[in-house]
Amino acid sequence: WPFFAEDIEAILRLKAERNAVVLAHNYQTPEIFHCVSDIVGDSLALAREAQDVEADVIVLAGVHFMAETAKLLNPERTVLIPDLRAGCSLAESITAADVRELRRQHPGVPVVTYVNTSAEVKAESDVCCTSGNALRVVESLGTDRVIMIPDEYLAQNIARQTSVDVITWPGHCEVHERFGADDIRHLRATHPDAVVLAHPECPPDVVAEADLAGSTAQMLDFVVTRRPRQVALVTECSMSDNIAAEHPEVEFVRPCNLCPHMKRNSLATIRRSLETMTNEVTIDPAVAVRARAAVERMLAV
Ligand code: 13P
Ligand code: SF4
Repeated sequence: WPFFAEDIEAILRLKAERNAVVLAHNYQTPEIFHCVSDIVGDSLALAREAQDVEADVIVLAGVHFMAETAKLLNPERTVLIPDLRAGCSLAESITAADVRELRRQHPGVPVVTYVNTSAEVKAESDVCCTSGNALRVVESLGTDRVIMIPDEYLAQNIARQTSVDVITWPGHCEVHERFGADDIRHLRATHPDAVVLAHPECPPDVVAEADLAGSTAQMLDFVVTRRPRQVALVTECSMSDNIAAEHPEVEFVRPCNLCPHMKRNSLATIRRSLETMTNEVTIDPAVAVRARAAVERMLAV
């Protein structure tokens, strides 16, 4: 920690001066997650918590769609993202025009959109979902079919749990698509006692080999409530690092892939963002009003 002390002290001082809070996703590195964040969580928790922030400024230590979601839900606040290049392969995989075309091909079928998308794509959607509530959202619509975009694997993993017919889109998370069923079989062979939890952005054959699939918050909840002796979190690398710090009694086997977008954030970029009040996230008001409705419908489920 001494290595980080100067940046940490500066961020804590700047947060007080600017009346700012830092919201950090579970994939941020431990020095961000543990030392400068006010609120940490999965995509769903960050969205819920962003609604209630009373501070003037929100620094979103995560990726761009998370900062946009915070801005949608709390438009009076100044929302900053430390590095504008922090994108997401899922958000990049689909445009608003693609959603309009899907609706044309499947008239009357509701569109369930993963929060890992731009505000423009959310604006074309009926309701959003996260990996933590996707099944509930799909079943809440009461229809026989849904269009579920853009994560093909999440949609396929949900389709296996419901009788609702799910129309998919070929978007993938570049981090989770790199896990293969072979990785899980190798893990079982080398660590036969480990409980294997996979993120539902993983391919279906990976999820099938795991003991459980869940969002990053559901993974944390499993570790906290079940206290496995040995666990493998099949997801981004910082997830295990962050939980391990508070659970020394649990052995974390670490099959992990780094998300280059999440890793755009550092103490240095968070500090600079607060010093210069950049990069501010803005959303076209005409888009925001429709995108907000889709996110709020999700939060009401
Ligand atoms: P959750 O934290 O909502 O499970 O999402 C994982 C992810 O990849 C976010 O980009
Ligand atoms: Fe996007 Fe995957 Fe990175 Fe999450 S982990 S931000 S879904 S690329």
